[in-house]
Amino acid sequence: MSEMLEKARKYEEEQGKQIKAEDRPAFHVSPYVGWMNDPNGFSYYQGEYHLFYQYYPYDTHWDSMHWGHVVSKDLLHWKYLPAALAPDEEYDKGGCFSGSAIELDDGRQLLMYTAVDHETLEDGSKRDIQTQAVAVGDGRDYVKYEKNPVLTEKDLPEGASKVDFRDPKIWKGKDGNFYCVIGSRPADGSGQILLYRSENGFDWEFVSILAENKKRFGKMWECPDFFELDGKHVLLTSPQDMLPEGLEYHNGNGTLCIIGEMDKDTYTLKEQFTQSVDYGIDFYAMQTVKASDGRRIMIGWMQNWDTLAHRDNDSKWFAQMSLPRELSVKNGRLYQTPIKELDEMRKNRVEYNNVVIDNDTISLDKIEGRTIDMEIVIRPEDKENVYKKFVLRFAQNERFHTELCFRPDESVLKIDRKFSGSERALVHQRRCLVNGDADELKLRVILDRFSAEIFINDGEQVMSAVIFTEQEAKGISFVAEGAAKIDVVKYDLI
Ligand code: FRU
Repeated sequence: MSEMLEKARKYEEEQGKQIKAEDRPAFHVSPYVGWMNDPNGFSYYQGEYHLFYQYYPYDTHWDSMHWGHVVSKDLLHWKYLPAALAPDEEYDKGGCFSGSAIELDDGRQLLMYTAVDHETLEDGSKRDIQTQAVAVGDGRDYVKYEKNPVLTEKDLPEGASKVDFRDPKIWKGKDGNFYCVIGSRPADGSGQILLYRSENGFDWEFVSILAENKKRFGKMWECPDFFELDGKHVLLTSPQDMLPEGLEYHNGNGTLCIIGEMDKDTYTLKEQFTQSVDYGIDFYAMQTVKASDGRRIMIGWMQNWDTLAHRDNDSKWFAQMSLPRELSVKNGRLYQTPIKELDEMRKNRVEYNNVVIDNDTISLDKIEGRTIDMEIVIRPEDKENVYKKFVLRFAQNERFHTELCFRPDESVLKIDRKFSGSERALVHQRRCLVNGDADELKLRVILDRFSAEIFINDGEQVMSAVIFTEQEAKGISFVAEGAAKIDVVKYDLI
């Protein structure tokens, strides 16, 4: 093991155990210690889910990228394993950037990642050069391949940039070959996704430009993922420098889902439908795994580069992953639901039916908490005279609350975290155009100490946001302008 990896493992071992469990999310992944960004290497290997993550153990900001490592049997209770990769080779001294993992035919686990090196230009300035490298291991310790890097500048199609060539996502094709998609930039400076093929995971060849953004969806497309689901092909990617289209997408680092069909002759994706993956504030760089029972499960970084949301304290860890979500394609759209394993954690069921709120603010006995799973159905009390506004407040005390506000006349759901504990000028609000039947809005709200994830209308859309509110702010209240009728079911999750 290199000195650099040994140092990281020693440091995290000493520091990580000092962080109290109650100072972390209860069932969302947070770094052992220090900084975390993208999920990497999300995979099922030897009876466990493995999740790696972009990791800088020594401080709570981004720096020289290592890979952190956790494992879980149920995707909710995670165990820390020692850091898997450190930027300890000449070709990756600028960082071990994002990538993925797969089991090789001989039973070893292969990690494929972006190795960042520097090049000095004529004027003396430096710039990054990105190549792809691999490492093999047993699910705990990994050895980098002696012939790294395995994909370099010479494997790029004409005009593609060697400065932006990153985030390989690997899978095994039906033909027995390995494939991977990698984000890249064509000569016009926009984004594209490249497809590569390999018989063994080590020797790779270029296949095609799978998809291009043609300057529509932002610029560089980061962290691509590509899979078949419910008879369609789905490309997920996280574009930089996006612009909004109505209430789809938002400025800056966004998330994009393209649903379409793969042309098997040209290996290109024929786009049929596009949408945001998450309509909230904090979600980026998602990656999926195919579970052993065939489910397609996605996890994302519950942060955003444009509004990095630090808690205003001296916390020893920064950032968390989203809840793992099961994906499906229905009515041509991407649906997301919390993984069914969460149901096992539900306890203390409290239920209310047909509660009428008529120009009033109410709270309900035993409906409160910060680690909860709550389902709410909201209907007009009188169909001929639909309420104007419905507001759900949670993480509430006298000073604070986080708010979801629905206006049926506009079909817009808004999340607002102005009063969620931050004194910084972050993005505090996002709006989402809610499809479906405005007569009935269904929300599933999952809170885990420092976050809220809202699944709308059985997962047709999701809004995720980090909150900073003190844990004592546990209150929940319901407000209606006009007369609304609600059903509520709430469970505690710890
Ligand atoms: C996305 C990203 C990736 C890159 C990694 C570096 O959040 O920019 O493209 O591999 O983070 O940490």
